[in-house]
Amino acid sequence: MIKKAILPVAGLGTRFLPASKSIPKEMVTVVDRPAIEYVVKEAVAAGIEQIILVTHSSKASIENYFDRNFELETTLANKKKDDLLKEITEILPPHVSVVSVRQPQPLGLGHAVLCAKAIVGDDDFAVLLPDVLVQSNDVENDLALMIGRFNVSQASQIMVEAVPDDLVDQYGIVDVSVVPEEGKSIVMQGIVEKPPVGTAPSNLSVVGRYVLPAKIMQLLEQTPKGAGNEIQLTDAIAMLQQTDQVEAYRMKGQTFDCGSKIGYLKAVLHYGVAHPKLGNEFKALIQELKL
Ligand code: G1P
Repeated sequence: MIKKAILPVAGLGTRFLPASKSIPKEMVTVVDRPAIEYVVKEAVAAGIEQIILVTHSSKASIENYFDRNFELETTLANKKKDDLLKEITEILPPHVSVVSVRQPQPLGLGHAVLCAKAIVGDDDFAVLLPDVLVQSNDVENDLALMIGRFNVSQASQIMVEAVPDDLVDQYGIVDVSVVPEEGKSIVMQGIVEKPPVGTAPSNLSVVGRYVLPAKIMQLLEQTPKGAGNEIQLTDAIAMLQQTDQVEAYRMKGQTFDCGSKIGYLKAVLHYGVAHPKLGNEFKALIQELKL
């Protein structure tokens, strides 16, 4: 059973400056809560019970957000602000814990995942990249479906979605013989990090959700620097695929790249409209603007 998820949050968020100058990009607000909360909730909805943050010294506010705040709780309780108190104490269900480990140097995504090796131990695990929000309209989210498939097949699961051909050089790209249906997985022939336009094996891009076996940590230890002179998770997955089945899972939901400013604005619109309390008023506001 997959109960652990690694969230690499050590990146400095240069694509999101100036907002990310003195707060972590993961703490930038999408509607009424930080972006990272959506990613953690997605993991929890898929059955994850331990969130492993791979973080940086400048990002303590992420850990603080998922911790209790006694002073704030006491103040809200004394003022009888029960709704707010409930909201801040129920960010995480009681069976979910958050632990953190530092990534001391920015050596790449593969290196970030490797930093969690001791915490992961012999357990298989999920990886969720916090820049990408995945909105799902189903009861079972895409990550839950990937975990279900992993439990049955023991094949690693890499979430993918189609991107325009001229953007393939911004992503990991998978090689598959047939494009799977949405919500389905297919064995992958290969995977390559940020291939130059015109050389990619497909236009199916790695979205930032993975279900991986514990043994990938040994492969990460041997992975040389790759694209961008960084240790790439994609390269370790390519090595794994030489000996083990790795499957591309085609997602059903919608993604928002909150690492980019326009992706972030799209996320605010979509999550704002879907918000249980603010949604209707926000929708009316958008219509009123008639831009
Ligand atoms: C990372 C991964 C890449 C993936 C992307 C998704 O790249 O290395 O394979 O497609 O996330 O957002 P990064 O965006 O960190 O350069």
